[in-house]
Amino acid sequence: MKILILGCGGFIGSHLIDRLLKEEGYDILGFDVSDYKIQEHLNQKDRFKFIKKDIYKNLNALYTAIKYSDAVIFLASICNPALYVTNSVETIRSNFIRPSKIVDLCTELDKWLINFSTCEVYGKTISGYTDNPYSDPSLYVQNEDKTPSLLGPIKNFRWSYASAKQLLDRYIYGQHIEKNLSFTTIRPYNFFGARMDYLPDKNSSGIPRVLACFMDALINDKPIKLVNGGKAYRVITYIDDAINAVLKILENRDKAVGQIFNIGNPDNEVTVRELAEKMRAIYARRVKNDKYLKHPIEDVDGSAFYGRGYEDCDRRMPDISKAKNLLNWEPEYGIEDTLEKAIKFFMEFYGIK
Ligand code: NAD
Ligand code: UGA
Repeated sequence: MKILILGCGGFIGSHLIDRLLKEEGYDILGFDVSDYKIQEHLNQKDRFKFIKKDIYKNLNALYTAIKYSDAVIFLASICNPALYVTNSVETIRSNFIRPSKIVDLCTELDKWLINFSTCEVYGKTISGYTDNPYSDPSLYVQNEDKTPSLLGPIKNFRWSYASAKQLLDRYIYGQHIEKNLSFTTIRPYNFFGARMDYLPDKNSSGIPRVLACFMDALINDKPIKLVNGGKAYRVITYIDDAINAVLKILENRDKAVGQIFNIGNPDNEVTVRELAEKMRAIYARRVKNDKYLKHPIEDVDGSAFYGRGYEDCDRRMPDISKAKNLLNWEPEYGIEDTLEKAIKFFMEFYGIK
């Protein structure tokens, strides 16, 4: 099978290449502007070809690549909450306006598009607005085909990403119904693992996603900052479980086409405060220093931390019954194991004993 991966040099892309190269029967062509995370893959030239270019600035190459592929896996986007707030225009361009071209090409060339959406399209839960939040799981568990999207006001820039991703999901579905596009949409729930992000100031700039923020605090002896008190919930999903789901999709095309799948581990739900506490406990054990058990945690205001217009998803709990029933996929890695592996990566990468 010839797999085209757009955005192959990022976190998910690098793990997908790892796995596809371990399996028989996949040839990969990848595009990315960056190859920092895929240095070790670049040598495997017989089954992995890489084009280090902006996909939208090389439309002829993109057209040819799509034409000769069996499946197009689309990962290229801005997907960092700090940028949704400070650069909402580019966030919308990167998540809807430009990707609509990829959708059009897949329709025109009759190719299977496997698109990475996000659990953020569900936005906030209905339950969060009730007098007794989260007492009724049916008001916060998210089902791909039933749950409405509840996004905040336009002035809250946070929702620029979720709105653009949601519009792309709708555009893809429209092309499927009206023009016969074969598609599968994946909605990831906070995938964690090696190469997700790096420490700010060293290998990246700005505010990374939460895993690297908390690692930065632990490694550089700064307080862990809990945005708005760390009350929000997240489901943490180990990257290998996520990649298994992509493989199940590739192996079950007939069942996967026309479907949206939540991919997340419902057993791994924590509040962001609990995430901070678990990470400092694991770090204390790994560096054999009990002082980290009490590593300072301080509350910060969301707008002060990210910028004006930040608002958070309160809770995102996936219903994964569709992926279980159609793909026979289930996550395997628990929260402790997932965090252990993610923290181990940082310690090895930065030489921390
Ligand atoms: P990432 O930022 O690590 O990877 C995205 C890659 O796309 C980067 O390497 C970037 O250089 C590349 N890219 C962006 N625009 C490009 C362009 N015009 N031309 C060429 N390359 C370009 O992100 P990720 O975590 O791997 O996420 C991939 C996808 O999955 C995104 O669509 C994201 O919205 C979605 N997603 C990820 C998560 C998660 O937990 N990681 C959760 C929800 C959704
Ligand atoms: C992220 C990004 O939007 C995307 O990568 C993706 O679409 C989505 O998750 C997903 O994985 O499904 P979010 O979970 O809000 O969204 O971003 P993180 O940076 O991972 O933050 C998680 C939580 O930690 C948020 O509540 C945030 O406010 C909080 N946080 C973050 C802190 O309390 N402190 C920090 O230092 C950083």
